[in-house]
Amino acid sequence: MDPQNTYLRKLRTLGILNRPLVARILSQLDPSHFISPDHIDVYFVTPLHFGSSSEVSELTARIKGDKRFYSFILKRYLPPEQRHLMDPSQDPQDDEKHLREHDNLLLFQTANPHQPKLYHNDPSRRLLVLETKDGSYDTLLSEQFLSFCKASRNDEQRIRHQIHHDLDQIIETAIHLMETCAPRAHTKDFDYNGFSRTHLRNLGAAYDVCTRLTLAAIGKERGETRRKQRLVALLDTSRAMQWTRKYDRKEEAERLFDYVGLREALVHTDMRPENVLFETGDQQHHFSLCDLSDLRRGPSDLDIVSLLIDPRVTGMFSLEELREIHNRHYQTLQKMYAGQLSTKFTPAERFTLAAVHGLLDDMGAVFHHLKQTNPDASPTHAEDYHQHQIGKVVPLGNIPEYFARQYLTLFHVLHDDSKLLPNLYRGVSEFVPAKTRQALEERLHQEKPSALWQMLSHLWKRGTRWLSFVNNNHQQYLFTL
Ligand SMILES: Nc1ncnc2c1ncn2[C@@H]1O[C@H](COP(=O)(O)OP(=O)(O)OP(=O)(O)O)[C@@H](O)[C@H]1O
Ligand SMILES: [Mg+2]
Repeated sequence: MDPQNTYLRKLRTLGILNRPLVARILSQLDPSHFISPDHIDVYFVTPLHFGSSSEVSELTARIKGDKRFYSFILKRYLPPEQRHLMDPSQDPQDDEKHLREHDNLLLFQTANPHQPKLYHNDPSRRLLVLETKDGSYDTLLSEQFLSFCKASRNDEQRIRHQIHHDLDQIIETAIHLMETCAPRAHTKDFDYNGFSRTHLRNLGAAYDVCTRLTLAAIGKERGETRRKQRLVALLDTSRAMQWTRKYDRKEEAERLFDYVGLREALVHTDMRPENVLFETGDQQHHFSLCDLSDLRRGPSDLDIVSLLIDPRVTGMFSLEELREIHNRHYQTLQKMYAGQLSTKFTPAERFTLAAVHGLLDDMGAVFHHLKQTNPDASPTHAEDYHQHQIGKVVPLGNIPEYFARQYLTLFHVLHDDSKLLPNLYRGVSEFVPAKTRQALEERLHQEKPSALWQMLSHLWKRGTRWLSFVNNNHQQYLFTL
């Protein structure tokens, strides 16, 4: 079967689309020129993205007598019962999302002409119709990363230079937008309880992945009994609780909360390459932001760090380089918000806290997804996407590699600033067997992180294979002590 059709069938937006609606959308292009349903020659839809609470597709249509095709982005918010929430802090009844996105799209357009135009809003169908940009920065970054992996030394430098330039552009665009739009943005309140629930869930996920890494190492050991004994100890859930409490009892979680709860500036809160759009200009790319439904007041540099911890970025730049990029833009923020930014943390500490928060969040989201009764059936299944080449839910298009990379960066960030969150560092590293840990630490400083990443990814894969073996054949060991 044509894979495209499988996706088309999943697209619920199809159910609301008809000739009169397409005519109404096309009429928005030129208000002086009314287009009736009879004027529509052909129209078709391509699914682009199945999000947790919305689906995004591209509508292409032609008017009779006109040779050109017109294209629009359709973003449709799903009714509560159709949402696939990935995060325990998300509110399934949040009906304001559509409204916030609508208001912020209009506002952002006034602050930057490259922001996608909003052509049409249909509240009863929860539908927004936007200008089509050339694509998301996620696609661009994936292409560049692929070239980087195959490149010669000289070319590597050239690619890194280009990406460095793009990242600077994106960060500058975002800083400017956030400052200009802050007074009138439609924001969401910071939900402290939701955040703390997510944080605990994310810590649990970190525990889980560490356990799997350890299992991978045990897999190498000989002797069935010894293996089983250690498995029992590792898979005991009360041990996970102990681990979480050991970390949580200390002031470390509070420190993280203090940072994430700052109310310094308007922030996007989900500044991943996927939510950055690009347009090819004469000389360079023009960037804009999408997914504007979760803006809030937060730490001024949170978005910068969210962008820099993307696994492709950390695969091409050292942490020192990324800290330098953050530092430089943080200085701009300090000038911009003269005297209003918190002095509680140094720039280096801010980078660490924001990165740890983001990395734990990434790990937590993937775990939450895998723990669904049938993750394969979910429209957000990453490999599914990869196969059909419609887009990738996780960067790298492969959950194990993504996970290993984010785990490694977490380890690395904590290792760099081990006095800030010493318990978490100990917690995360205690699961890596001593022998491997030393090798890990030694290789943290090597020039090219990809070898290390390969090693971890390998470990992770073996770990998951082991776990499925345990789940299928040794169910009883999970529940006995
Ligand atoms: N104007 C646009 N032009 C081109 N592509 C777009 C445009 N808007 C969105 N997209 C594509 O659709 C994807 C999803 O859009 P968006 O981020 O707004 O929704 P989402 O992530 O599903 O939102 P939610 O937070 O509701 O889950 C983007 O990553 C991008 O690839
Ligand atoms: Mg998005």
